[in-house]
Amino acid sequence: MRGKRIIITGASSGIGYELLKQLRNDNKIFAVSRNIEKIEESENVKAFSCDVSVAENVDRLFEEALVFLGRIDVFFANAGFAYYEKIENPDWKHNLKIFETNVLSVLYSLQKLKEIKRGSEFTFIITASAMSYLAVPGYALYASTKFALKGFADAYRHELEKGQNLCLVYPVATLTEFFNTAHANEIPWPRQTADVVAKKIIKAVSRGKINIYPCFIFSIGLILNKIFPIFKLYHFIEGKKYKRKIENNLNLSTI
Ligand SMILES: NC(=O)c1ccc[n+]([C@@H]2O[C@H](COP(=O)([O-])OP(=O)(O)OC[C@H]3O[C@@H](n4cnc5c(N)ncnc54)[C@H](OP(=O)(O)O)[C@@H]3O)[C@@H](O)[C@H]2O)c1
Repeated sequence: MRGKRIIITGASSGIGYELLKQLRNDNKIFAVSRNIEKIEESENVKAFSCDVSVAENVDRLFEEALVFLGRIDVFFANAGFAYYEKIENPDWKHNLKIFETNVLSVLYSLQKLKEIKRGSEFTFIITASAMSYLAVPGYALYASTKFALKGFADAYRHELEKGQNLCLVYPVATLTEFFNTAHANEIPWPRQTADVVAKKIIKAVSRGKINIYPCFIFSIGLILNKIFPIFKLYHFIEGKKYKRKIENNLNLSTI
């Protein structure tokens, strides 16, 4: 990926930060997150502090990005977070908060980019998750946001013009701040580092892939699952672990 004008959300940490690091030398980048102290600015990189869960902020993001970049070729919709929890009480705000960041902001940004580009080429990459296929116990709300992204993309791709690419990335557990933010006391298996995930995303996007599986084991698992229900087995094991944690009242998020 060279000479592109790129927006990356969630650029202050984890996968987004690694994407920024690996792309910054050859591209012009508008790097977005709420905390921007960690993002080193340069002639080619502008940091923009923004909570992307609010529509007006996303409007402003596009305005400022266009001033800095001149045009937008690539948008990485990567900002997101999880709750690891036991859902005890109906809580509209709690549900809304995660959907606003992980889903509504992503869909709105894609719709805005399509409107701005008026039929011309762009690539929009969404960091979905392996949990778009396999919902891990304790992550019910998070998994539902990632399932929603996949459902939207599967249908919406048919509304795009030639040269407009919508890519979804399905990372497995990645060693970032993600699990601390979720208040999870354990990281599921298999695991990858953020630099490997970012490298695989860039390579796959450059090759024109639209479904990106950074972990080889997971992509094999998806195929095997069609023959033998290994995801059911995974659920069974993870479900037992989760119940044990609840019984022992172990470190479940109560945000
Ligand atoms: N780590 C994993 O195991 C894993 C697996 C599959 C998919 N994913 C997905 O990968 C993406 C990146 O996560 P990560 O693992 O790199 O986690 P991370 O290290 O926690 O990074 C999350 C990034 O999103 C930003 N962010 C969160 N809420 C935001 C908001 N409302 N507005 C603007 N920026 C916001 C954070 O910055 P600020 O807090 O400064 O705003 C941070 O830069 C997420 O969509 C996540 O769901 C992660």
